[in-house]
Amino acid sequence: MRILVAGSAGQVARALAESSHPGFTLKTFGRPELDLEKPETVKAAFNAFQPDIVINAAAYTAVDKAESEPEAAMRLNADAPALLAKLSAASGAPILHLSTDYVFAGDKTSPFVETDPVDPAGAYGRSKLEGERRVAATNPKHLVLRTSWVHAPYGSNFVRTMLRLAETRPELGVVADQQGAPTYAPDIADGLLQIVARIASGSSAPWGVYHMASGGSCVWADFAEYVFARSAAEGGASAKVNRITTDEYPTPARRPANSRLDCGKLRSDYGVALPDWRSGVDRCVARLLEQRRVT
Ligand SMILES: NC(=O)c1ccc[n+]([C@@H]2O[C@H](COP(=O)([O-])OP(=O)(O)OC[C@H]3O[C@@H](n4cnc5c(N)ncnc54)[C@H](OP(=O)(O)O)[C@@H]3O)[C@@H](O)[C@H]2O)c1
Repeated sequence: MRILVAGSAGQVARALAESSHPGFTLKTFGRPELDLEKPETVKAAFNAFQPDIVINAAAYTAVDKAESEPEAAMRLNADAPALLAKLSAASGAPILHLSTDYVFAGDKTSPFVETDPVDPAGAYGRSKLEGERRVAATNPKHLVLRTSWVHAPYGSNFVRTMLRLAETRPELGVVADQQGAPTYAPDIADGLLQIVARIASGSSAPWGVYHMASGGSCVWADFAEYVFARSAAEGGASAKVNRITTDEYPTPARRPANSRLDCGKLRSDYGVALPDWRSGVDRCVARLLEQRRVT
């Protein structure tokens, strides 16, 4: 089974490259070898690698910047996935496409299920939703996997930002009225590879849209407090968290108040359930502090 991963330096792409995948040949493709804005490079990568399955881990992920660059977000999050879906469909290869909790407006009090109405609040969410639709319309063998609040010991994410800010600030204001599930990129990689193994085994499971995020949920302020508790326990940086409202921390893009994803469908159809969010934070912080000790 040859797995082509679109993206190489991003959190999920890098976690996939680092993961153990015995029996599979997995290759991540990043710029300039595969540039999603240059279709000829995408076609060349497919021709050279001849994938049996495609994972799209590349995206325009700058949620706030997307408000001023909606066309760029649409090119990377909708046009590019449509091309990946077209090229994979041409050879009968399934595509696993990552999407986001931000396709929902957040105006529900319980976790969102896959059939809940979508209504993205910003340009990023709209571009990701369009990507979902175009992948689904282009390759019948598709899985759209919505995840949330991704973090890793590398890349641009909340855990690294909190620990960096705590180096110089004793107190931080963190939003306490948006709920979601921090999801560790290596756990997403494991989940994707479990799904690939299931597809490779030939045992049937339905294509379609699935939610794949960590177990449990919290607000950003809880997330920050937990990061600092873990860090302090291991001798790392820590800060006091002041709980603030979304209105007190205005951003160009509006975030959903509720981003919680019900992941029961993935568990029942594919037998995949990601660990609790605290477990991912434990491993992320431990690895970051270990890296710091080594360097
Ligand atoms: N980050 C989150 O909190 C979050 C939350 C929910 C869902 N998601 C979804 O999860 C998936 C993975 O996100 P992530 O956090 O791993 O993203 P990320 O760390 O921001 O990485 C994005 C990747 O896309 C690549 N990319 C951007 N423009 C490209 C282009 N023109 N050609 C080829 N590659 C390009 C980047 O390459 P360079 O390194 O070269 O720029 C990078 O490897 C995405 O679909 C995202 O929408 C993320």
